[in-house]
Amino acid sequence: MTERLDKLIADSGTASRSQAKSLVRQGRVTVNGVQAAACDVRLNPDLDVICVDGCMLNCSKYRYFMLHKPCGVLSATEDRAQKTVLDLLPENLRRLRLFPVGRLDKDTSGLLILTNNGQYAHNIISPARHVPKRYIAGLDSRPDADVAEVFRRGIVLADGLECLPARLEILGGSSAAVTVYEGKYHQVRRMFAAAGLHVLTLHRLSIGPLELDSALEPGQFREMNQEEAQLVFK
Ligand code: URA
Repeated sequence: MTERLDKLIADSGTASRSQAKSLVRQGRVTVNGVQAAACDVRLNPDLDVICVDGCMLNCSKYRYFMLHKPCGVLSATEDRAQKTVLDLLPENLRRLRLFPVGRLDKDTSGLLILTNNGQYAHNIISPARHVPKRYIAGLDSRPDADVAEVFRRGIVLADGLECLPARLEILGGSSAAVTVYEGKYHQVRRMFAAAGLHVLTLHRLSIGPLELDSALEPGQFREMNQEEAQLVFK
């Protein structure tokens, strides 16, 4: 399947269609190592190597990004009134039709994956897959050791909803690390509430063995390759 060069550049999220045309005109695009002469040349993204300013285009169908979600933004693709995680991405990446894998509450920070691969997202979210999600919670008081035991057995929420067994590590001061294997609505906050504790801050550290890159400041993101994205299932 072939596509025009300017469309391939735009579809990769590198530049808008008009910017792609001007990149070609400026001689900043190579195809198979040779400077591209025109935008309308048709190429096969599976066979042809396209570079912009020496960087190879990612023409993969599915893309994966790791975002350090800051507090105060919604885990949604759009909202009429409030800022969403997609508002943190540059305009060019909008073409990729990314969406967040599951939700972090507005006031939760940390690791959020954005992708355009629905099956991948489903596999992470599905409780049947038991993908561990690890959080650090700042609490209003220090949990007793028996709270860890209650979490380990599987807590029942105030509305009767049963949660799978979770792992609680009591850290210094009034903070704790919690690992859950499903993603019910407000799950971690509600689990602590059921144990009589109030969550003041919540930050997701990891999904499976995939950890939030410590180089990413809140609001920053980076692309992951296929291999790194699959780490969540290891
Ligand atoms: N559990 C919560 O309560 N909130 C989150 O954002 C994630 C897990």
